[in-house]
Amino acid sequence: MATVLITGASGGIGYELAKLFARDHHDLVLVARSGDRLAQVAKELQAHGVTVKTFSLDLSAAPSPKFLFDQLQREAVAVDILINNAGFGALGEFAKMPEEQIFGQIQLNIVALTELTRLFLPRMIARGSGRIMNVASTAGFQPGPLMAVYYATKAYVISFSEAIANEVRGSGLMVTCFCPGATHTGFAQRAGNDKSRLFKQLGAMSAEKVALDAYRAVMEGRTLAISGAHNWLVAELTRFAPRKLVTAISRWVSEDAQS
Ligand SMILES: NC(=O)c1ccc[n+]([C@@H]2O[C@H](COP(=O)([O-])OP(=O)(O)OC[C@H]3O[C@@H](n4cnc5c(N)ncnc54)[C@H](OP(=O)(O)O)[C@@H]3O)[C@@H](O)[C@H]2O)c1
Repeated sequence: MATVLITGASGGIGYELAKLFARDHHDLVLVARSGDRLAQVAKELQAHGVTVKTFSLDLSAAPSPKFLFDQLQREAVAVDILINNAGFGALGEFAKMPEEQIFGQIQLNIVALTELTRLFLPRMIARGSGRIMNVASTAGFQPGPLMAVYYATKAYVISFSEAIANEVRGSGLMVTCFCPGATHTGFAQRAGNDKSRLFKQLGAMSAEKVALDAYRAVMEGRTLAISGAHNWLVAELTRFAPRKLVTAISRWVSEDAQS
């Protein structure tokens, strides 16, 4: 059985993914900031007879990814599957967005994900096996006025993951980029877009269903997977529609449903 490292496993999609891996008897390394919640999750999942290690870390702090990697090396834990799932978004005009929100998103969604990939990938290549799944978003397929930084971070994740998947082809490794659309988790409340048309009118998927799609995508070694047929269709259409129109629709979707 594999050892699976999941970032952002204290809630939402990451927690649902952790449950799926535990049910299939994989050992887990779970990371998030809230240590108490992680301890609860570990207790729950150990009931499946698996080993669950937890790390209470703020991955947006620059030293955290290396600290995590070094700690696992010291404990002789080899990670077979790395799931870079932790991420957050913030709603608001870029010009008015606090600096810590702008750089917090870049640090967590891009820098930590890249750093963890950089640290774990060479060992997987040396072993000739392993899987990495980076959680992006359908937001990554178009510009996102009112969530400009978030959408741009997810465009990075898609581009980076597809490129790495190509580079490791034939080495026994598989790199997957997984793109959820709107999903019922704590994400929207933290982002401040829970009243947006996207969540209020257009509908969101359950975290359980999205996690199941993610689980299948990583186990099948798919390079790019989009959760939900409607999300797949929208992502495909944005490739052919005029860019200005796509950007305008993207803004409309992020605006408050009441306004
Ligand atoms: N929900 C959506 O609509 C949606 C749509 C598309 C893509 N996604 C993507 O899916 C992924 C998971 O999102 P979710 O919806 O499950 O969100 P969520 O419910 O807010 O969960 C986010 C997870 O990340 C952890 N986390 C947040 N900041 C962290 C930090 N600085 N360091 C370490 N861990 C941190 C959180 O735990 P702590 O708070 O305990 O740290 C939590 O476990 C994200 O990458 C998100 O961008 C979500």
